[in-house]
Amino acid sequence: MTKKEAQQEIARLTDLVRYHNKLYHQYAQPTISDYAFDQLLANLAQLEAQFPEYQLPDSPTKVIGETPTKNFETVYHQYPMRSLSNTYSAAEAAHFVQRIAKQLPGESIEFFCELKFDGIAISLVYEQGVLKRVVTRGDGTKGDDITRNARQIKTIPQVIRAQDVPPAFEARGEVCMPWSEFERLNEARKAHGEEPLANPRNAAAGTLKTLRPGSGPPRTLDCYLYALRAEVMALDTHEEGIRLLERWGFNVSDTYQKCKDTQEVLDYIHYWEEQKKNLPVGIDGVVIKVNRLAQQNSLGTTAKSPRWATAYKYKPAHVATILEEIVYQVGRTGAITPVAQLQPILLAGTRVKRASLHNAGEIERLQLHLGDTVFIEKGGDIIPRVIGVDTTQRKAHSRPAKFVTHCPACGTVLARRYAKVLYYCPNAQCSPQIRAMLEHFVHSKAMDIQAIGKKTIALWLEKGLVRTPADLYALREGDIYALEGFKDLSTRNILQGIEQSKRQPFARVLFAIGIRHVGAVVAEKIAHHYASVDRLAQTSAEELMTIPAVGREIAHSVVAYFQISENLQLIEALKKAGLQLYTIRPEAALASQPLANKTFVISGTFESFGREALRGGIESRGGKVLAGVSRKLDYLVAGHHPGPAKLAQAEAQGIHIVDEAAIKQMMGW
Ligand code: IVH
Repeated sequence: MTKKEAQQEIARLTDLVRYHNKLYHQYAQPTISDYAFDQLLANLAQLEAQFPEYQLPDSPTKVIGETPTKNFETVYHQYPMRSLSNTYSAAEAAHFVQRIAKQLPGESIEFFCELKFDGIAISLVYEQGVLKRVVTRGDGTKGDDITRNARQIKTIPQVIRAQDVPPAFEARGEVCMPWSEFERLNEARKAHGEEPLANPRNAAAGTLKTLRPGSGPPRTLDCYLYALRAEVMALDTHEEGIRLLERWGFNVSDTYQKCKDTQEVLDYIHYWEEQKKNLPVGIDGVVIKVNRLAQQNSLGTTAKSPRWATAYKYKPAHVATILEEIVYQVGRTGAITPVAQLQPILLAGTRVKRASLHNAGEIERLQLHLGDTVFIEKGGDIIPRVIGVDTTQRKAHSRPAKFVTHCPACGTVLARRYAKVLYYCPNAQCSPQIRAMLEHFVHSKAMDIQAIGKKTIALWLEKGLVRTPADLYALREGDIYALEGFKDLSTRNILQGIEQSKRQPFARVLFAIGIRHVGAVVAEKIAHHYASVDRLAQTSAEELMTIPAVGREIAHSVVAYFQISENLQLIEALKKAGLQLYTIRPEAALASQPLANKTFVISGTFESFGREALRGGIESRGGKVLAGVSRKLDYLVAGHHPGPAKLAQAEAQGIHIVDEAAIKQMMGW
């Protein structure tokens, strides 16, 4: 390898590792196996060692950290991780305080109140001040060893530098995703056509399982500590432990408070119920703990939870209001979404006038009548939803809400899908669908033609200037300029934006054409697997499903897309317009062609795929599948019960015989 080649290869691998890190971190949707990722990282490290002068200053190999794993080892906790008894009632919280006083007669008691962080409980084990192990709570006795992943969280110190650090200690806390990050993640998911995550706890759990070194410390997770256990330190109170944790550099929320009686505890509870909206992370209540450790010991624990602590949990906010109407929205892919229009009402600090009803199944389940008094909830989830009906308030002559049978926009009879809960308008020419399709096409995450806004699209549709995305590429200066409100500059910007969009890579175009269920991330994966739209148009659902995270629904949707003649016409028109309907990076094509120039014969049956899928997989990686064994053959892929003649021939000619596991590895499946 020449120096120049090495430099280029280092740059390429660095890029590729960063790219896969992004998929892994930001979207929790890796497209290659951990094994394949490790190989890339190892190749990069090896080249960097050989040619250190070309190592980039922020190379992903320089970030400290081990390889992540999704298969976590189960480890036993040194002390069981119990849960907390809990209550939703202030009276019961008061009762807890009084019971403690009764059980410790004549003693002065202090309560230490903390927030109950809504995340994932973890235990951190340090030895000689160095972080050794991070384990999830699991079943309380044993959990997942997530050390490698948790090392990426910046608020978990790797080393404690303090004089008084004991030789061993354990800290416990909660890994949380801040609201700001959660919202950012959901915005990105929505822009990519993916379902938003319901709450930060789920998001934290997902992220925690997919953290990967190499992309710098992620900002996405924080760890709040709430307990210290150090055998050799003679601590008197829980508070001393908390203060030590603070001093040693752990992230301890300064929201804790010592309380001496029921009133102070209740004040704390109510204060944070009101203030929790201003916190950076979600909480689901407060925890009330007896502060003195000697008192904790004498109160003891039950099998499940300590007797010296309890949790007061906040009820998710809900209110009753009137269901005025149900409106039906037509989405880009024709799906009809019912939305409850409500008499506006304040809920958890915001004015709510709409709530999601998801689909027809939900309306049937709730048996809604127009004019009903309905309960709206905004819990950990962001979007308010209708959770129930107060049937006692139902007006005598109200009628049950009936799902529309015809498209509210174009009047076409609706079709049903998915166990009949989803209605959709099958008319691809339905105007909201066309409008939404064009809006999606020019979106910043798709073709990124920022000069074309929603208003422009609406006007062009009205004037009959465009109907399909391909029409954009036929627009001339005069067409735009002739319309009212378009000046020289805006016309030029629009034409320039359209021209520049021709350089968008295949994955973006694939996302932009709006195949049902194909979000940006899935589009990237598909574009990576198939080097061109022509290859993709001929594929089978079975082969598509060999791509990680392409499930049955997506696969069938892609195959169905290429069976519709209007879609094929659109693709042809886009091709003619000069859009990238193939992978442009030759290096990437090369990387996805690991079997280039190799020949294969397939024999027998396989457990994880059919023979056609295997053939497709080999071919899309540059390999050739032959019918019979010959001297020139590189590999015989032998599944269950391979043809004995083929096997014998291959053996006699010294041809490599690979089994299912080996071919999977060769293809990165
Ligand atoms: S103390 C032996 N303090 O709540 C009890 N737990 O069911 C140890 N949690 O999953 C727990 N914030 O991770 C404690 N300030 C806090 C907490 C807290 C959140 C979680 C904990 C556990 C659950 C208890």
